[in-house]
Amino acid sequence: MSTVRFDPTALAVLAEAYPAAPVTFEHKLAAEGLLTRAALAELAEFLPADSVEYNLGDLPLGVDPDKVERPALSAAEVIRQIDRAGSWMALKRIEQHPDYAKLVDEVLGEVRDVVAPRTGAMERCEAFIFVSSPHAVTPLHFDPEHNLLLQIEGEKVMTMFPVTDEAIAPPRVHELFHLGAHHRNLAWRDEFQARGRAFALRPGQGLHVPVKAPHYVRNGAFPSISLSVTWRSEWSCAEADARALNHILRRAGLAPRSPQQYPARNLGKSLAYRAIRRAGVVPRP
Ligand SMILES: [Fe+2]
Repeated sequence: MSTVRFDPTALAVLAEAYPAAPVTFEHKLAAEGLLTRAALAELAEFLPADSVEYNLGDLPLGVDPDKVERPALSAAEVIRQIDRAGSWMALKRIEQHPDYAKLVDEVLGEVRDVVAPRTGAMERCEAFIFVSSPHAVTPLHFDPEHNLLLQIEGEKVMTMFPVTDEAIAPPRVHELFHLGAHHRNLAWRDEFQARGRAFALRPGQGLHVPVKAPHYVRNGAFPSISLSVTWRSEWSCAEADARALNHILRRAGLAPRSPQQYPARNLGKSLAYRAIRRAGVVPRP
């Protein structure tokens, strides 16, 4: 029998919020076994180079991804020296390692009964580990996945913005993102700050981050390790299809309405876009 990572209260809290609202909940993953710094340094050496992203952690809230500098150390050295490396690191798709695949499977298996009835089958399940130095900043961005961010070591604050705030994430940015023509980082303006909600996380706490909710992260005074388990769903794929269709409509001179929020399913636009793709039309960014 596998270890239980979420008790019934945590699952009930998640069920109340998922998939539309951010919410914090308790979890039982700790900095032991596969989640110690030593184990993660070994994981960084195991993963292919394109699954290990790291850069200097002292970044402004809005940043051009092409202008981010890399530290001089190797990824494993950055993890071993994370107290003073001044860095931010993402170990991507950790399920490429069989031990971590088992862990991710177990974690996702515990939330499946919350997820599947609401947004359909979990697809493209992937997990990431973020290791960051004291005070490191992850700039403003959004992600296309459903995400549970589970804090393992240290503390961080994620400031999250409403999915529907089109000044922060304009419809055209969504559309270009789904066509592979826009990075997930978003432009920052100081006036956004008042529209955000800050979620402080300590070890043992998790945060549900809704699909496409813009957010930035500021690490606390000590090194931080977080595990992020993510998935796509029938619902999130339909939202992405609707964005791509909107791009085609916009190029045709129309002003399409943005996809609707859950529980609306955007099925009409999704089916239309899939038919267009099947006909061999690939939209140009
Ligand atoms: Fe993110």
